[in-house]
Amino acid sequence: MKAIPAIRHWHPAPYPPDLLPGGLHLWRVRTGPEGAPLDQLWPLLSPREVDRARRFRFDRHRERFIRAGAGLRRILSGYLEVAPQAIPFEYAAAGKPRLTGGFEGLDFNLTTSGDLALVALSANQPVGVDCERIRDCGDAVAIARRMFTSRQAADIAAAAAEDRLEQFYIAWTALEAEVKADGRGLLGPRNPAARKTLQIRHCVPEPGFIAAVARKRLPPVEEWVTLDPTGR
Ligand SMILES: CC(C)(COP(=O)(O)OP(=O)(O)OC[C@H]1O[C@@H](n2cnc3c(N)ncnc32)[C@H](O)[C@@H]1OP(=O)(O)O)[C@@H](O)C(=O)NCCC(=O)NCCS
Repeated sequence: MKAIPAIRHWHPAPYPPDLLPGGLHLWRVRTGPEGAPLDQLWPLLSPREVDRARRFRFDRHRERFIRAGAGLRRILSGYLEVAPQAIPFEYAAAGKPRLTGGFEGLDFNLTTSGDLALVALSANQPVGVDCERIRDCGDAVAIARRMFTSRQAADIAAAAAEDRLEQFYIAWTALEAEVKADGRGLLGPRNPAARKTLQIRHCVPEPGFIAAVARKRLPPVEEWVTLDPTGR
């Protein structure tokens, strides 16, 4: 199986570098207890986000949501030079957030898994990102048969036991990144044509995770600008 490139360095970035046409910025946000202090983050959220945060049953899930959502706002704030709490979002039919108010040229997408969130940014090209912590997910072959193409499902069924889970998550993150790029979500209509128009690239953002990014055209992973909002 082809090795997935690992992100070796997340560059500490108090402010974002220029996002060049065709470039891909990928930010890492820590959403666990080692992440940013929550009392500084609540005030950055919109009323809609505060309402969602309050409705989580478990504190751990609420805290991840707050750190990811406020982290996204802080990251966007650096590009747009607007206060994090003033970033104007609107939501497409299946829930994909996007910028409005004159900032439509900056495309972004967020994903969270475990205590890690990733934000992909792109200039004038819709982008989708998905990240998954590799863990036992029950009957991977049965899920694959339901969710993936018959070819992908057959490959996963035929994989050696020690490779099967990784292969499953490669296909899973590709599917999610794809449906997140055009915003239709997993419940939306299947769109085999999207597979032909979107490029999907995988990386290992941290050991134990697999991520995929989907966009019409993507540079190789080695050319992605990988950033950590340390100090912000
Ligand atoms: C979008 C979707 C694939 C995300 O899956 P996931 O693995 O659970 O979540 P991820 O962590 O990768 O991504 C979540 C983030 O993606 C963004 N997002 C939400 N909906 C999205 C969509 N349709 N497309 C792209 N991005 C979306 C949000 O920023 C969200 O963060 P938030 O939950 O903190 O607001 C899944 O939730 C889905 O299919 N949703 C659509 C549901 C739908 O079709 N509803 C129809 C209206 S009733």
